[in-house]
Amino acid sequence: MNLSVFKGLYTKLRELRIKDVEIDMNNLPQHIGIIMDGNGRWAKRKGLARKAGHAAGAKTLQEIAEFCGDLGIKVLTAYAFSTENWRRPKEEVEALMKLLRNYMKNCLKRAAKNDMVVRVIGDKSGLDDDIRGKIEELEKATANNQGLNFQIAINYGSRDEIVRSIRKVLEDVKAGKLE
Ligand code: FPP
Repeated sequence: MNLSVFKGLYTKLRELRIKDVEIDMNNLPQHIGIIMDGNGRWAKRKGLARKAGHAAGAKTLQEIAEFCGDLGIKVLTAYAFSTENWRRPKEEVEALMKLLRNYMKNCLKRAAKNDMVVRVIGDKSGLDDDIRGKIEELEKATANNQGLNFQIAINYGSRDEIVRSIRKVLEDVKAGKLE
């Protein structure tokens, strides 16, 4: 591990107030999954609006992604916005979409700096055209990077995934690729 990675790791653990922890650098997980949760509760504890909690969550996610890249983790998947999340109050959904737009823009700059490959998984058809455009731009710009594979799940859901899988199987049967 080079010195700057070690310093980053040490600082992060101190920030998290984790003192007695040993990380076996030769036995790191290949793929880490994160479910974003608790943004609202975090904001409430601090007397802030929920959208401030989401903004802080998005910032932390970016830091975690860069940290994972420094550590040499291969894949990070963040479950950010599920199909159920559309049922939240309109104002909150709008704030989340605004955050997503800005996140894609910032991520473009930071992914280049950090050599990350960024992909958005989930049903993108439910997103506004401009957000889809930003996602496409980000995916294209980072496709040949060599570092962490950072996957962001947006508009994902188990029910939706089952329906899409069945549709795909039916298409393959129709096309004669599957019996
Ligand atoms: C969970 O906290 C968070 C979400 C459902 C949304 C997370 C999405 C973003 C921050 C949008 C931006 C996207 C990226 C990729 C950064 P919660 O509201 O369920 O918290 P609570 O359980 O405390 O109420």
